[in-house]
Amino acid sequence: MSSGPLVLGIETSCDETGVGIVHGQTLLADAVASSVDEHARFGGVVPEVASRAHLEAMVPTIDRACETAGVRLRDLDAIAVTSGPGLSGALLVGLAAAKALALALDKPLYGVNHLASHVAVDIVEHGPLPEPTAALLVSGGHSNLLLVPDITDDITSLGATIDDAAGEAFDKVARVLGLPFPGGPYIDKAARAGDAAYVSFPRGLTSGRDMERHRFDYSFSGLKTAVARWVEARERDGQPVPVADVAASFQEAVTDVLTRKAVLACREHGVDDLLIGGGVAANSRLRAMAQERCDAAGIRLRVPRPGLCTDNGAMVAALGAQLVARGRPASDLGIPADSSLPVDVVSV
Ligand code: KG4
Ligand code: ZN
Repeated sequence: MSSGPLVLGIETSCDETGVGIVHGQTLLADAVASSVDEHARFGGVVPEVASRAHLEAMVPTIDRACETAGVRLRDLDAIAVTSGPGLSGALLVGLAAAKALALALDKPLYGVNHLASHVAVDIVEHGPLPEPTAALLVSGGHSNLLLVPDITDDITSLGATIDDAAGEAFDKVARVLGLPFPGGPYIDKAARAGDAAYVSFPRGLTSGRDMERHRFDYSFSGLKTAVARWVEARERDGQPVPVADVAASFQEAVTDVLTRKAVLACREHGVDDLLIGGGVAANSRLRAMAQERCDAAGIRLRVPRPGLCTDNGAMVAALGAQLVARGRPASDLGIPADSSLPVDVVSV
């Protein structure tokens, strides 16, 4: 029997319209409508297309979540919504829906941080978060290494990408290799038949000097360019491009740096628990390498199931339920969408 606050969460920061319902730490519904197919021909998310798709999907997705959970809107204790970071127009659709529900139902509204939600979602899968937990968030829009002493009000950034996000690099390299968008899952699949040692691609920001100035930061732009140059050289020589081997070698370079710095951060900050979230956490090589390196370092690893790693509403509801349970203050109905909400602001 679940207990705790009953919270509906709305997520619209990118191209997924997510509505989740959480009861305390129990997930009751996770309805997601994605506009990813509408962006595929552009090779990336088109903000205006995403906003319009959210508008169409919002009410049906709320209805679907309530039906799955067997919950009536008036039974809810609170409404949570992503207020940033993300695409402004897309965020506005979710915020407008959440504010309308909060006002009409006379329930408290919680505007929450998208990145903190990626961390909080693991509570509904693997239980309460150890305090502190280190979190590696890797998706098409973000690559962050965080220290999380308290998911409801204390998150510190240890590092982030200084150029492309990890998922963005997967998507761009996939394009160079002639694979569809979004490229991550296709590279993952192609790499299974490839040799990860075929090409030794650069590991960004890992040299001695970079480790002083950018100890826990990432950079994937140089790697992306190195892959493109390598492929171009092969094509210029009239030779076939070994897609599986290049995919595997690229993936190895990304996962090597991601996991190396995450484990180092845990060691240096005395943290025994690492959580990996975001769309790229679905990557099979990243999961395997992270598990190996965490085992070797005596760190416990938590990775939500792939469906909870990509953007969804359950993560927002999960964080909302934590905020309510810990008695954190609700948000004002006038809260704005903040496309660059800092990672250390858990709720607004
Ligand atoms: O979290 P998410 O759904 O949306 C953003 O907030 O960006 O992440 C999407 C990203 C895309 O770049 C996609 O290529 C990547 O996650 N991705 C993967 C895999 N599945 C999704 N990257 C590598 N391997 C995968 N299996
Ligand atoms: Zn995300």
